Amino acid sequence: MNTHEIISLEHDHLLQVYARADFVLDHGHGCIVVDTDGREYIDCVAGIAVNALGYGDPDLQAALDQQAGKLWHVSNLYHTAPQARLARLLCETSFADKVYFSNCGASANESAFKFARRYAYDRARSETGPSGKHVIAAFSGGFHGRLFGSLAATDRPKYQQPFEPLMPGVRFAAFNDLASAAEAIGDDVCAVIVEPVQGEGGVHPATPEFLAGLRDLCDQHDALLIFDEVQCGLGRTGTLWAYQGYGVAPDMLTAAKPLAGGLPMGAVLMTQRVADAIHPFDHASTFAGGPLVAAVAETLVGKVSDPAFLERVRDKSVYLGEKLAEINSPHIVEVRGEGLLLGIELDIPAADVVSAAYRHGLLTVGAGPNVLRLVPPLIIEYDEIDQVVERLSVVLAEL
Ligand SMILES: Cc1ncc(COP(=O)(O)O)c(C=O)c1O
Repeated sequence: MNTHEIISLEHDHLLQVYARADFVLDHGHGCIVVDTDGREYIDCVAGIAVNALGYGDPDLQAALDQQAGKLWHVSNLYHTAPQARLARLLCETSFADKVYFSNCGASANESAFKFARRYAYDRARSETGPSGKHVIAAFSGGFHGRLFGSLAATDRPKYQQPFEPLMPGVRFAAFNDLASAAEAIGDDVCAVIVEPVQGEGGVHPATPEFLAGLRDLCDQHDALLIFDEVQCGLGRTGTLWAYQGYGVAPDMLTAAKPLAGGLPMGAVLMTQRVADAIHPFDHASTFAGGPLVAAVAETLVGKVSDPAFLERVRDKSVYLGEKLAEINSPHIVEVRGEGLLLGIELDIPAADVVSAAYRHGLLTVGAGPNVLRLVPPLIIEYDEIDQVVERLSVVLAEL
């Protein structure tokens, strides 16, 4: 099948929920993806912060091959070694005592919401009645997923309205505004969910004071603090977990995107205090934490948690930031972000830059109408960064 045939086949048979580029990706190596017409692109999307180790990492491949020959899937009625080892590794490299696996970011967040309500249920029953402590506080500009619960906590009328009624019991406050958070967080709140660095909402890092203040508010009101690190976690910001750069620990943390190196997997990391409130049959999933994805994830977490790897991410982040600052374009309003999660705020639609960049062999993605997001594989090389910046400056000069 040629490119045109594949695209028209998709149009005929695939639900049209994505606005796709007009080429077909075929294979990749390192930070490069190649389309069916042989054109190469430097990938600064990486599956939207998924492919942390790029394409064709030999260790991920070996882990996949080895486990694929043994066992792909068994029910969570049974123990498997890859799941147990991965859970231990996630606990050893974070604040967590226990881990629950899910299949994606949205389901990790919805699992965390259930755990928060379960935790509050036992405590609140005696004081304020069974449903007296059920509110989940979330923030403007946050993005937590597209299922009914995670969408309810994602403050975008455009995404929410056609699907209402959503999960009730969500209250919003302004991001990076502690006074607004203090108004929203009372004794009826069971959990507060926040991205330490907002991704989809335009690449906005939380301030350290904001996260520390949320920690205090949660402690005052016996609410659980959930950090959604689906996009910013697992090395993206230059520390294994974004919270480690802030020195503020949550009660639960949700992870997904890069966790299994491109295979679907999510996780909720939690303290023992939270885990103690959850009982058998409170929650479950057929596929979650299966041995194949868990084996690949163990290899990925092992590689990205290496201090030398994380130091290289931080160094490359500084280099990319310096190079971007050299672009002399009136369209650039601001460059911001953490690590290799960078947003370039523009005075023109980001979508125009994304499309023009395709023609120059560069994949980028928007984060809101005017922010261009760069989320390359964490293994991007310095000479590739040079080429990214060169191509971007040519594109911006054209527009
Ligand atoms: C911060 C954050 N949370 C949750 C999600 C939802 O993840 P998924 O698409 O795997 O459901 C995303 C996806 O972009 C995200 O960026």
